[in-house]
Amino acid sequence: MSDSGGVSVLGICGSLRKASYNMAALRLAIAQKPAGMTVTVADISQIAPYDEDVRAQGFPLTVETLRRQIAGADAVLFACPEYNYSMSGVLKNAIDWASRPPDQPFAGKPCAILGAAAGMAGGARAQGDLRRSMVFLDMHPINKPEVLIGQAQTKFDESGKLLDEAGRGFIRDMMAALDRWTRQIGGKK
Ligand SMILES: Cc1cc2nc3c(=O)[nH]c(=O)nc-3n(C[C@H](O)[C@H](O)[C@H](O)COP(=O)(O)O)c2cc1C
Repeated sequence: MSDSGGVSVLGICGSLRKASYNMAALRLAIAQKPAGMTVTVADISQIAPYDEDVRAQGFPLTVETLRRQIAGADAVLFACPEYNYSMSGVLKNAIDWASRPPDQPFAGKPCAILGAAAGMAGGARAQGDLRRSMVFLDMHPINKPEVLIGQAQTKFDESGKLLDEAGRGFIRDMMAALDRWTRQIGGKK
């Protein structure tokens, strides 16, 4: 927990688009976080494609920063776009880099996923794949509520406001669940 006793969360968004629905949903999650929780959003925009030869020379600063942020957070919140039935390459690449030894920083972390996608399923397939990766990462995701914002282009206004009241409620409930879950199992520092 942070010095103030609240849960500290690192947000990681898999879309770099300025008008990203996933980033808009992440912003809404932050706006609806429970009292005491703090959320920092990682910048993964400058992380280069994974290269084991580069890693062998040492993590680039962009990756080292992300790894430190993950290690220092009590929990991780992923905003997960769906690209071709899976998570975006940008998100997978950041996870791949951060997950390399030593001291794999995701291990033992509570986490949650939210997602918005153009399709009816709201990114369900991408979230399924991300959950599968979480097994190998040794993370502990909350299961419910699921936040799957389908047909996102009809659910947000031009300013990025989520107009769907039910969706807003799911995001609020998910943040409360992440707070409870993190306190219950404890975030690994
Ligand atoms: C390469 C690519 C693949 C996509 N594949 C899917 C898909 O499998 N399912 C889906 O619902 N939407 C798919 N979409 C549409 C995205 O859901 C949509 O572009 C969404 O706005 C991306 O998230 P963002 O708004 O956070 O950038 C795809 C978009 C791109 C660019």
